[in-house]
Parts: sequence; C-alpha cells; structure tokens
Amino acid sequence: MLKEIFFRVPKDKVDAFSDELIEMGALSVTVECLEGSDIIKDEASFEAQYWDENRLSVLIQQEDEIRFSKLFFEESKAVPEIDWVLQMQRNTPIQIIHNQLWIVPSWHQVPKEAKTVLLLDPKNAFGTGDHPTTHLCLQWLIEHPVRDKSIIDYGCGSGILMIAAKKLGAHKIQGFDIDANSMLVAKQNCVENGIEPDFDLNGTEGDIVLANIHLGPLLTLVDTLKGLLRKKGILVLSGILPFQLPKLLESYLPHFELESVDTQNGWMRVVFKKG
Ligand SMILES: C[S@@+](CC[C@H](N)C(=O)[O-])C[C@H]1O[C@@H](n2cnc3c(N)ncnc32)[C@H](O)[C@@H]1O
Repeated sequence: MLKEIFFRVPKDKVDAFSDELIEMGALSVTVECLEGSDIIKDEASFEAQYWDENRLSVLIQQEDEIRFSKLFFEESKAVPEIDWVLQMQRNTPIQIIHNQLWIVPSWHQVPKEAKTVLLLDPKNAFGTGDHPTTHLCLQWLIEHPVRDKSIIDYGCGSGILMIAAKKLGAHKIQGFDIDANSMLVAKQNCVENGIEPDFDLNGTEGDIVLANIHLGPLLTLVDTLKGLLRKKGILVLSGILPFQLPKLLESYLPHFELESVDTQNGWMRVVFKKG
C-alpha cells in the first residue's frame, strides 16, 4: 500500500527538501502551487519556477510513514497504486521552447497564448522535449526556415521532431527508428497531432535530416544519412558529448561541410551540409 503525505514548503527550500525526501526513500515528490496553478518549466534554465508557498505531495510506502513522520507532514492519506501514474503525470509540465513551440501533455489545458502546439504525453519511447539533445534539435527547427521543406528524423523515438517540424510548416516529414516500439509510439503521437505518419524511407531524399542518436550508432550511419539527404541538404546531429567531437568530425568531414557546433547543458549539436 502506498501513502501520500503533504508538506508546505517555501520557494527556496523546495529543491533541497525534495532531495532529502528522495534520499529518505520517497517514491516521488510532486510540487504543487498552493493556488492550484500548473508549474511551467523555464526552458532556458531547465528549472521549474516555484511559487512563494508550495505544497509537496510525496508518495511513500506505508511502512515508511513512521520514519517520515519526524519531518512533521501536514496530512497523510492512503492512495491506490494507480495514483503513482497520476503523480508522474501531474509532475510533467507544459514546456515552452523559445516562446514558439508549446509541448502540452494531455492532462493539461492548452494555454490560450500558445502559438505552435505539440500534444505529447510521456510514453515508452525517448523524446518528451526536456532532454538537452532533443531541445537542441527543436531549437534548430525553430531558428531555421523549415517551411515547405522535406524533413527526415532518423532515430525518431517518440516522433517529437517529426511532429514539431510539421507543425512549424514542413511540407513532408518522415521518420525511422531501429526500435519497433518507438515506431509505434511515434505513429500514435503523429495521429494524436493530426499528422499522417510516413516511415517508409525507401528511395527518399530529404532537404533536412535530423539524427539525435549517440556517437556509436552515428559513426556507423554516415553513408545511410548521406544517402537520405539531397545535394546541398542539411544534416543536424545531436546527442554528442564534447570529448566525442573529434571522432565524429573524423567520420563526417570527408563527406560533409561543417556548418555549426553548439552546446547546451554539456551536449553538442553538430550541423553539416552535403556538398
Ligand atoms: C536519443 S533518442 C532521440 C529520439 C527523438 N528523435 C528526440 O530527438 O527526442 C535516439 C533514438 O534513436 C534510436 N536509434 C538508436 N540507434 C539507431 C540506429 N542505428 N538506427 C535507427 N535508430 C536508432 C533509438 O531507438 C532512439 O529512439
């Protein structure tokens, strides 16, 4: 049996107290505004903005309640196991990427001021938008003209980049993933966003190819990615750590011209142009 215990915590204590609770064995800590509004993550700092007074809803095992009682919680109540999922959902905020793209989980209302909206729930596939490697690709899509371009996401995971590209005006989007479950999730997410998914890359050439994959696979995919790009097309790679850059360049520079290298939260995005 699980129990939910509640604390009232000021803004400057939320992070440290949450860490303490997790170290003590809490299963999850959800921060709620006492006024009842959603928390919106600040995409620039990757940190949640807390209110002056916050309510921490903490999920624990029933047998741990005596141990947690020394922290003087306000209230405790028994919860069925299913509430674990609800806690996770409530802890997934709306994300705003560069004031352009709004990633909205289904349990939130789409804010009136949202411009381009991407409906996305966390599922069993990589790509909710909060990881820096995905964020770097989303940022590139926002900052470059993708309208009327054909875009391929190689290693599509949840399909987040395909959907974002389409919503930002791309005329054709395609994806592929080595993981069959990711393909299913991507398909589902495309449909939920009113987009017809296309996963057949046979004979395809895109104007832009995105690949947010780790270095190992990227080193084996040079010819594949080159084959998927039209002449003068742009290749956006993400998921690279700074110490891996020389190895990546060694493999890609004989085939592509280097356009840019950018870093965010310790991850790199490397952009090439096909000659
Ligand atoms: C870091 S996730 C990126 C997901 C999504 N595109 C994003 O940006 O959030 C990398 C994805 O690449 C897939 N992947 C890994 N190696 C691959 C390969 N050799 N070919 C195709 N997909 C691959 C993984 O299954 C995973 O879904």
